[in-house]
Amino acid sequence: MKISVFGLGYVGAVTSGCLTTFGHSVVGVDYSQAKVALINQGKAPVIEKNLDQAICDGVARGQLRATHEAPDAILSTDLSLICVGTPSRKNGDLDTGSLKSVCVEIGTALRQKSSWHSVIVRSTVLPGTIRNIVIPELEKASGKKAGIGFGVGSNPEFLREGNALDDFHNPSKTVIGAGDDRTGNEMESLYSSIKAPLIRTSIEVAEMIKYSDNVWHALKVAFANEIGIICKSLRVDSHEVMDIFCQDLKLNLSGYYLKPGFSFGGSCLPKDVRALVHKARSLDLDLPLLGSIIPSNEKQTTRGFEMILQLGKRPVSILGMSFKAGTDDLRESPILEIIERLIGKGFDVRIFDRNVNLSKLVGANRDYLLRMIPHVSSLLVESLDDALSYGEIIVIGNGDPEFRSIAPRIRPDQFVIDLVRIQDHSRLDGQYDGISW
Ligand SMILES: NC(=O)c1ccc[n+]([C@@H]2O[C@H](COP(=O)([O-])OP(=O)(O)OC[C@H]3O[C@@H](n4cnc5c(N)ncnc54)[C@H](O)[C@@H]3O)[C@@H](O)[C@H]2O)c1
Repeated sequence: MKISVFGLGYVGAVTSGCLTTFGHSVVGVDYSQAKVALINQGKAPVIEKNLDQAICDGVARGQLRATHEAPDAILSTDLSLICVGTPSRKNGDLDTGSLKSVCVEIGTALRQKSSWHSVIVRSTVLPGTIRNIVIPELEKASGKKAGIGFGVGSNPEFLREGNALDDFHNPSKTVIGAGDDRTGNEMESLYSSIKAPLIRTSIEVAEMIKYSDNVWHALKVAFANEIGIICKSLRVDSHEVMDIFCQDLKLNLSGYYLKPGFSFGGSCLPKDVRALVHKARSLDLDLPLLGSIIPSNEKQTTRGFEMILQLGKRPVSILGMSFKAGTDDLRESPILEIIERLIGKGFDVRIFDRNVNLSKLVGANRDYLLRMIPHVSSLLVESLDDALSYGEIIVIGNGDPEFRSIAPRIRPDQFVIDLVRIQDHSRLDGQYDGISW
């Protein structure tokens, strides 16, 4: 393929050098004369292991050259990758100045081109940037319509500096967000030599993935560091702790606990987070990340409550009272907190939970429930049908499989608040709201 790469910094230079090794022809574009000259001399414009060789080989084979003229690059290639910088502004916002100006340059050059051209954003940009900035700027400058005169896509870069070439050839994944099929297919061909999972999705999801990935990586570092600080104070070997932690691929390093949904609860997580944070405080340790977990969780419970509140004082049926499906453990169940607050506000509430039978509850579990909602027995209904026919607001409180397919049974006068994410919610358009989706 014939590709132009706009921005010859770390990402652009690595991308340019590596794409030539797949047999593609690359024209690099940068307004830095020095970077353009270095590439044309077969030298890497940034320090990165093995990049000099890749660029030297690409130039020697006649597959790589650089220019500062956008029209030259656009007219001699079929697809452009935007790799310009998107640094932070003072207030933390993304500075899209370079992105806008590169779009104007590409768009202006596209005016001179009658054939199809795809423009792919590889720079890290916030969700909505391509739809709200890249496409309008390209359309204005080119006089063409995205998806008709040219294609647009998102293809975030996941390389790590210092390991960039290896990461380019062996990425954890390739994510392709395309505005149209033709652009998506072209992006697939671009990476056809790479053996890594290739994921096709929407432009906005592709933009967001990069942020969820990087924030997750940052969170992992901060988490490990704070665990290390506590360990050090307690004279426990933090590396041995985290080595064992990392061996758990079922619950720790896995997809478990990583789906947006309702607050955590139950007899362990809240208690144990509180105990560790209290221990840290008693040791005079300032651990902002661990200290923010309980407030973040409480905020999610409040969000759920406010979603119901804003629908007005209508009868509410709660499906699921325990903190997760398949248990009758009600201790620190966040849905109980919501029920208590609703009752306090004068809402008429009914509850259905197949696993909770008041006559069978004993000990701390029963005490907890009766302390939270003393007259709970008068609120419990016997069947899902009873619950569905009672409330005008239906709240799905836990992931019991029975609740996941209620959509066809919802009446036109009812509204569903979903704290779990039921399977068929799209059919409830206008009568449905999910807590984090
Ligand atoms: N560096 C990384 O490890 C890494 C990894 C993944 C994603 N990213 C993202 O990729 C993007 C690029 O990062 P980088 O580190 O390569 O940036 P960089 O600052 O090293 O390089 C950006 C280059 O773009 C050039 N440029 C700016 N405006 C231009 C224009 N109008 N036309 C042509 N060239 C122009 C600059 O001269 C510069 O050479 C950023 O959005 C970054 O967040 C970076």
